[in-house]
Order: sequence, then structure tokens, then C-alpha cells
Amino acid sequence: MNAKLRRSSLQICQEGHPVLRSCARPVNLALITSPEYQELVDKMVVAMRQQLGVGIAAPQVGVGLRVFCLEFTATHLKIMGPEKARMREMSILPLCILANPVLKVTKEEKAIWEEGCLSFAGFVAKVPRARQVFVSGLNREGTEEKYVLNGWSARIAQHEMDHLEGMLYIDRMLPKSLKHIACDQHVGFGKELIEKYERILAIKS
Ligand code: CO
Repeated sequence: MNAKLRRSSLQICQEGHPVLRSCARPVNLALITSPEYQELVDKMVVAMRQQLGVGIAAPQVGVGLRVFCLEFTATHLKIMGPEKARMREMSILPLCILANPVLKVTKEEKAIWEEGCLSFAGFVAKVPRARQVFVSGLNREGTEEKYVLNGWSARIAQHEMDHLEGMLYIDRMLPKSLKHIACDQHVGFGKELIEKYERILAIKS
């Protein structure tokens, strides 16, 4: 990937942009090897990696096409730490780019973990997701690829597939679990106030 491409990386659309709430259109198979499509995919990968994301869908960069990228690297594993990674069934998933993907849930059993989205920056929430899915689609050469994904990889694929249907994780989250990523810094602040005003906060009947 050249330096020019890196400099001209794409912006990530934030919730509220209509493209995120629209059903994406299929990629024209005749154009899959075109320079424009290849450039779009390259730019999506750059945008995802710049934000340390584990997936990105074309609508997130403002393009309503049915294509997404998934990637879970050794760096992501290291950031999570061994315990969290084990609990959440995280494993390395080499870069996977799929156009016109089809996803089938192959195990109905769900896991509930916190996830975030580059298009709803600054927040995470608990989302129930199936623990195993089958995904197929066309790679960037136009050849069909098939995957059985488990655990966290299955979660990433379901999250990206939702983007192509105009859905975000906030549509599936447990509503009261929504957290700002800086909220932990404020918990202590709240405790101090409770102690300070304990007397007037106490309910007297
Ligand atoms: Co997302």
C-alpha cells in the first residue's frame, strides 16, 4: 500500500448519516476487478487499521455497497490480554474482504459481550450475538470464499453484515449497558459527591 493511499484515507461516517441507515446495494460483479473497486477496498482497510478496528463495511466510509472487511490481529489479542481474549473466544482472523456476503447462523447459542463501532465512536454496549456463523462472499479477485467463524470472529462478521442492512449494534444492544468509554473515570467523582451530600441524600420519612 503506497504512501499516497495512506494520506488520502477515508473518513468514517458517524451515526446520523443516512448511508448508515440504508440497505447497501450489491457490488456489480463485472466491476470487482476495476481500479475503482480495488481502491475503495484498499482505503477501507487503511481506515479500519488507522482506527484499530476489527472490521469495516463500505457504508461506514459513505459508500452504500455490499462489501466488508474483517481482521483480528496479534496486536488486537495483545491489547485485550489473555484472560479477556479467552473468555470472549478471540482468535486471529487474517484480513478477509467479502463482497455480496451471505451469512447464516449455524449455532443459535448466543454470547453477550461489549462491542463498539467506528461509526458510534466513544461508546460500547453489551450485544447478544450467535457464537457460530457461516459466511460466504466474493474476495477481491471475484472468487467465492467460505468461512465458518466462531466466537469473536462470528461477532465481527454479524456486526459488519448488519451494516449492510442499515443496522448498528445499538439496535441490538442491551440498552442500559451502553457506556461511554471514559465513564469509568467518572465513577469515583460520583462516589465523592454521594459521600459529601450523604446527609441531605438520605431519605427521611
Ligand atoms: Co460498526
